[in-house]
Amino acid sequence: MAVFKLIPCLVLFALFSFDVGVAHPGFGFGWGSNGPSIGRTFSSGLFPQFYQFSCPQADEIVMTVLEKAIARNPRMAASLLRLHFHDCFVQGCDASILLDDSATIRSEKNAGPNKNSIKGFEVIDEIKAKLEQVCPQIVSCADILALAARGSTILSGGPSWELPLGRRDSTTASLNGANTNIPAPNSTIQNLLTMFQRKGLNQEDLVSLSGGHTIGVARCTTFKQRLYNQNGNNQPDETLERSYYYGLRSICPPTGGDNNISPLDLASPARFDNTYFKLILWGKGLLTSDQVLLTGNAGNIVELLNMGHDYSYSQPSKSEEYGGETADSIYSETEDLIRRDQAEIRYNYGEPVQYPPQPEALSKIACNRLQKELTEWQVNPPTGFRHKVNDNLQKWTIDVTGAPGTLYENETYQLQVEFPVNYPMEAPQAFFFPPGPLHPHIYSNGHICLDILYDSWSPAMTVSSVCISILSMLSSSPAKERPADNDRYVKNCKNGRSPKETRWWFHDDKV
Ligand code: HEM
Ligand SMILES: *[C@@H]1O[C@H](CO)[C@@H](O)[C@H](O)[C@H]1NC(C)=O
Ligand SMILES: *[C@@H]1O[C@H](CO)[C@@H](O)[C@H](O)[C@H]1NC(C)=O
Repeated sequence: MAVFKLIPCLVLFALFSFDVGVAHPGFGFGWGSNGPSIGRTFSSGLFPQFYQFSCPQADEIVMTVLEKAIARNPRMAASLLRLHFHDCFVQGCDASILLDDSATIRSEKNAGPNKNSIKGFEVIDEIKAKLEQVCPQIVSCADILALAARGSTILSGGPSWELPLGRRDSTTASLNGANTNIPAPNSTIQNLLTMFQRKGLNQEDLVSLSGGHTIGVARCTTFKQRLYNQNGNNQPDETLERSYYYGLRSICPPTGGDNNISPLDLASPARFDNTYFKLILWGKGLLTSDQVLLTGNAGNIVELLNMGHDYSYSQPSKSEEYGGETADSIYSETEDLIRRDQAEIRYNYGEPVQYPPQPEALSKIACNRLQKELTEWQVNPPTGFRHKVNDNLQKWTIDVTGAPGTLYENETYQLQVEFPVNYPMEAPQAFFFPPGPLHPHIYSNGHICLDILYDSWSPAMTVSSVCISILSMLSSSPAKERPADNDRYVKNCKNGRSPKETRWWFHDDKV
């Protein structure tokens, strides 16, 4: 039975922040092989408290496994979300995607859209094994897939939703269904609308569900056509933004490199937020199917995208974030994760930082890439940034001016960006000259708590995209203050230690 329908409902709600009830009076209808009319009224027989007595710990167990799995591999959240989508689009959300080849089954795992692509089965197996220990033969695999998709969204910083439960697992799979029902990355807007319509999903559902591409990655083979021969004339897709196009070419060469990956949302690939929609507005959607949401001119899609653009997550209030019981527990965790050593050396505020020089020369690839970035920067610098170009390609000193209308209006700070020898495979080291802007994510030693500078870095990012993220982080700041753990962190940060040596915990990446 299918209630994946609830995802668009809530994603829409969260991403676009308009009243779903009003905007979509028909939101109660269902999705999949088991008939219409499920959803908020739960007339399918599914309901959120389905395991209330038989397995009350079900969601907790799912979340515990997910937390560990995502900590091991941040991409897992994306893989599990996609797994649910690919399950639901074939025979409904019935766990048919989990079935392996056998005498009677032709596994969906071997379908074009899934083969060498779909991931996360081992995490589903792990959840299932744990649930079998606690409540044997109670929780269906279809519900596990749905719970894992919701949990992964939540753990990536995205919205939660009420999830009706009680799905039963299919004993059949459809290889052919998987090949024909799951849309291809080079789909036209018409293809997409048709395929979604077949599942009872409309245009708004298409846009909001595509928002799942706010996390995760895609392989070169899924977007190569756009770079080299979009329309059979050996030309790139002209809707691709230029600098993004050059970045993608360096990851995805004309021949080979098919399995190289690039983030679907280059600004925040591990965070469930609305940057995916902003990037589309800027011509930086990764797949054709992403960009055509805008360029396909399908009626109010543009309007929907604009709403996504305007939406910003509600900021947690200070007390929620830094005080209160929950915050305390997040807190101690933060402290453990943020510190690696217990160095006693005290950092003096305001003292110039000398990070250790990087002795090795840049690789040839890094050199070429940086030269290209520098040229592009000179032609088209990101608004609010000034780089006084010198002869040191490996270390850029950039003036950052707070955007008009924000807390940092007219204030200028210096950002230093240093590149490792194997840039762009490895993230640059970026920090403010102390004390840096007063911001809940910027420590007084200039270190910046921003995921793309560390775990979420991807070679498709550039100095410009880093700058844009930093400025947007500044612009969305609710208050001029240091992180609550500033003193502890700075005190324990040996003078000269790189922020890249810190293990950051992005407990609060919405500011
Ligand atoms: C609109 C039609 C869609 C198309 C054409 C499409 C296509 C793709 C492609 C080609 C990839 C990369 C696969 C690879 O490189 O192996 C991908 C990844 C992904 N898709 Fe979609 N997708 C669509 C809709 C959705 C929906 C509705 C969701 C969920 C709400 C979703 C969630 C994801 C996620 C999270 C990833 C990253 C997976 C990972 O990193 O492991 N997609 N998609
Ligand atoms: C999409 O890609 C497939 C496989 O590479 C190809 O056969 C098809 O013609 C492409 N469709 C479009 C619209 O470019
Ligand atoms: C920033 O500078 C502009 C132009 O000089 C001025 O009009 C504006 O009031 C300044 N804003 C603040 C917050 O000082």
